Amino acid sequence: MTTDEKDSAKETVKLIIGTSTLELPVITGTENEKGIDIGVIRTKTGFITLDPAYMNTGACLSNITFIDGDKGILRYRGIPIETLSAHSNFLETSFLLMFGKLPTQPELTHFSNDIANNCEIDGQSLAIFKGFDATAHPMSVLGTLLFSLASEFGNDGGDPRATFYDDAVRIMAKIPTIIAATYRYSKGLDFISPNPKLGYCERFLNMLTGEENIKALELLLILHADHEQNCSTSTVRMARSSRANLVSCIAAGVAALWGKRHGGANQEVIEMLELIEKEGGVENFVTKVKDKTSKTLLMGFGHRVYKNYDPRATIIKRACDALLKKMNISNNLLDLARELEIIALSDPYFIERKLYPNVDFYSGIVYKALGIPDTFFTAMFAMGRAPGWLAHSKEFSEEPNNKISRPRQIYTGPSVSPYTPIDKRT
Ligand code: ACO
Repeated sequence: MTTDEKDSAKETVKLIIGTSTLELPVITGTENEKGIDIGVIRTKTGFITLDPAYMNTGACLSNITFIDGDKGILRYRGIPIETLSAHSNFLETSFLLMFGKLPTQPELTHFSNDIANNCEIDGQSLAIFKGFDATAHPMSVLGTLLFSLASEFGNDGGDPRATFYDDAVRIMAKIPTIIAATYRYSKGLDFISPNPKLGYCERFLNMLTGEENIKALELLLILHADHEQNCSTSTVRMARSSRANLVSCIAAGVAALWGKRHGGANQEVIEMLELIEKEGGVENFVTKVKDKTSKTLLMGFGHRVYKNYDPRATIIKRACDALLKKMNISNNLLDLARELEIIALSDPYFIERKLYPNVDFYSGIVYKALGIPDTFFTAMFAMGRAPGWLAHSKEFSEEPNNKISRPRQIYTGPSVSPYTPIDKRT
């Protein structure tokens, strides 16, 4: 493969496939990331590209979030995550992600009021909670409740852009209410109606436990608000490509986020720390992780994109220290996490594989300090990620020639085979 750099606007690469030589356009991003547009490969050569887990495949152009995984950089719409976490709040960051610019004061007030006026869930939704066992995982309740709202959203058969603002407001408004109601139900407590006079995070905590540590919650939600084409966001974009309605696409994101390789890791980290605390021995645990036959992972470590410190983990670790100091809590789990991090980061196993703490390593400790139970951590992540999912849905819908996502495959099953009648089968 050679690069033709005569004119950077028309950069191409030559690709020899079988007997064909293709000259393929190179697409260059704002930060000089380069991708080869392979759109004609199949029609011109009969080959497809094969890239399970999309390790090398860009699925779209996007102007929402930039990550440089080697340098540990994360920016929303160009603004560094460090700046947003120091100066912004969750609703302002959500507006930035969804609408591409920081809101003016009237725009932010309007957005915030619209959300406050849509945060109620009706009696029919509340009745759905009663169909769940009190021990049901909050992610299953959240996904179900979001799907149950689909009938209010229309089927988006026409132009899905027309209703985006109203739909996004309703989704962002209802997610905290659903999570808080799930919590109250799981504890056998009465549902607390959302108070429209309170801010987004304050209202949520008020419905949940009466806690008021809004700053720490704002920070966590901002840090989780978007992360470009991760598993759940790609799922949302893919569902949206079929023109499923917006709230159903968000419910699809909830399902993809739930798994322990992705958003479910925050709950797993706490369970892992509790296990280490119970059984004793950080070093023993690290030895077990390095023994591949144990199939044990150090949860909250590693990332597909970051091969350096996850910048979100740095911010959360600092916030976690400050919060626990402010609340005057000495936390064994935090001490264990710190010890685990120091041991792992000096161990060749982790160094060679470039495994660093990710966003989930310390977030659970902060949620715990806020009085949020472990099983709710991933639902909290979903609440934070909702604006990112919405921003990507909007971006996809605004692409003039967007198409349904439909990967291909290389079939490896049997060739044409006979049908054996049931009485002749052995
Ligand atoms: N503990 C121990 N070893 C690990 C870990 C870990 N947490 N993560 C990766 N490795 C090892 C793998 O076993 C593999 O080793 P090998 O080369 O000897 O086979 C190597 O590092 C590369 O790992 P992959 O699994 O190929 O990396 P991938 O990019 O596919 O996976 C992932 C990334 C899923 C995040 C993985 O690191 C992991 O499972 N981490 C733990 C779960 C977690 O914290 N997830 C949250 C991620 S952040 C988020 O989604 C919000």
